[in-house]
Amino acid sequence: MSAPPAAVATEADWPAVTALRHRVFVLEQGVPAELEHDDADATAVHAITRDDAGAVAATGRLLLDAAGPGRAVIGRMAADAAVRGRGHGAAVLDLLQREAVARGQSAVELHAQVTARRFYERAGYTAVGGEYEEAGITHVTMHKELGVEDAGRT
Ligand SMILES: CC(C)(COP(=O)(O)OP(=O)(O)OC[C@H]1O[C@@H](n2cnc3c(N)ncnc32)[C@H](O)[C@@H]1OP(=O)(O)O)[C@@H](O)C(=O)NCCC(=O)NCCS
Repeated sequence: MSAPPAAVATEADWPAVTALRHRVFVLEQGVPAELEHDDADATAVHAITRDDAGAVAATGRLLLDAAGPGRAVIGRMAADAAVRGRGHGAAVLDLLQREAVARGQSAVELHAQVTARRFYERAGYTAVGGEYEEAGITHVTMHKELGVEDAGRT
């Protein structure tokens, strides 16, 4: 099966993006609602995929220079439970990495839930340091130096 195409979210997508994040992080994972969104959402690059019916199915965000000059942070990666394992998360991550390269970023750092560690390792991320609690969930910091292969297609 071919990977679903990802796109940069527009303002019109925002209600569906927040609804998806609420379903995954707050309802499914028990993250407090007030921790799920923050001021960084206003300036982040948000990516989405859609399911066959056109509904937003996966999302993630990119924060430029958030881990230092040229070092972006990717977070809030969430795929609707109904589409997991079909390439939606990978397509969102791939697009955010391409957007990072296009915006002059040379590396990405992220705080991965330990259950998603393999997902990020498959995309070329390496864990650095030990595990820690964040929003009541065990995380590990991971990073990736971005190369030409992450610039991808235009
Ligand atoms: C993590 C998440 C975004 C992945 O999205 P997804 O659409 O299911 O992932 P994909 O189908 O694109 O998977 C890409 C690859 O990673 C693998 N993978 C995905 N999730 C995985 C997991 N939790 N553990 C191990 N491997 C995983 C897939 O098998 C696939 O491998 P393949 O390319 O060899 O087939 C999704 O599972 C999710 O929303 N989980 C709940 C929220 C969450 O944990 N977010 C991460 C916060 S750090």
